[in-house]
Amino acid sequence: MKNYITLSDIESLDELINEGLQLKKENSVPNLGKGKTLGMLFFNPSLRTRLSTEKAAKLLGMEVMAMNVDKDGWALEFEDGAVMDSTKAEHIKEAAGVLSQYCDIIAVRAFPGLEDKEKDEAETVLNSFKKYASVPVVNLESATGHPLQALTDAITITETKQKDRPKVVLTWAPHPKALPQSVPNSFVEVMQKMNVDLVIANPVGYDLNPEVTKKTAVTHNQEEALKDADFVYVKNWSSYEQYGKVLKTDRDWTLTKDKLENSNSPKVMHCLPVRRNMVIADEVLDSQDSLVIQQAGNRTYAAQAVLKRLLEEK
Ligand code: CP
Repeated sequence: MKNYITLSDIESLDELINEGLQLKKENSVPNLGKGKTLGMLFFNPSLRTRLSTEKAAKLLGMEVMAMNVDKDGWALEFEDGAVMDSTKAEHIKEAAGVLSQYCDIIAVRAFPGLEDKEKDEAETVLNSFKKYASVPVVNLESATGHPLQALTDAITITETKQKDRPKVVLTWAPHPKALPQSVPNSFVEVMQKMNVDLVIANPVGYDLNPEVTKKTAVTHNQEEALKDADFVYVKNWSSYEQYGKVLKTDRDWTLTKDKLENSNSPKVMHCLPVRRNMVIADEVLDSQDSLVIQQAGNRTYAAQAVLKRLLEEK
C-alpha cells in the first residue's frame, strides 16, 4: 500500500481486516516504526481519529506530531500559478515538501465546504498532499470519504456477526447541522466489498451519490428497511441532491427502541460523535445492543493495520 486515501488503496480487504483483528490480540509491533514519525494535520476537529491514530502509531513504535493547521499553521494556497497577494501565506508545494522532510507518513483531515459539490469532489487538499509530498499520505476524513472509519466498521462487523451473511441497514437520522456524506459513502463502499445484505434507508431528498450507491438497495421507508436487520448503522448526512442542505430536522427518523421490534435484536453502530435523542435515543445507546464504544475502540486497530502496511512498503 503506497497511500491510504480511499478504500481502493486496499489490495485485500479481508487480509487488512484480519490484520486489524490480529493486532487487537497482540497489541504492539514496536520495532517496525522505530525512528519513524507520523505527522497529523487537522483542518477540522477530532477526538477519535486523532487519538486512536496517535495510539496506533505509538503501538508501532513511531513518534507522532499533530497540528491544528486551521488554527496554528499558515493559511495554505492550493492553486497552481496563483499570485499570492492575499491572505494565503504558504503554498502547498512548499508545505508538503517541508513536511516530507520531518515525517515518514503524513495524515490529513479536511472536511468539505458543502457549498460547491464540484469543488468538494475534487478533494483538493488530500490530492495536493498526495501530489507534493514525497512520503505516504493517509486520509483522516476528507470531503467525500472516511476510509479509516470504514475499515473500523468492517472489523467491528466481522468480529461481531452471528451469521455468514448478515443484513446490514444504513439508516439516515436527523441532525440540526449540515454534515458531510463522507462516513456513509465509505461505509457503503466497504460493505459493498463484504458478504452482507446491505440496505440504505433515507428520506426523500437524501439519496447518496448514485456513483457510490451503485446497485445497493435504497428505500425511503425506514420501518421496511429495519425489518430482520442484524446490524443498524445510524448516521446523518446532508442532502447530496440539494447539495449540503438540511431538508429535515424533525425526529421521526431518530432511532428508537420500538423501531427495532421487527428486527433480529440488531447491533447498533455509529461512528461518533452522536447527538443523543436526536440521532439515536438513550434507550438504544445505553442498551447491550449498542456497539458504539467497541467500534470506537477498534479505530486504533484499523489505523494500526494501515500504518503497518505503509511502513512495510517503505
Ligand atoms: N468518528 C470520527 O471520525 O470521530 P472524530 O471526528 O472524533 O475523529
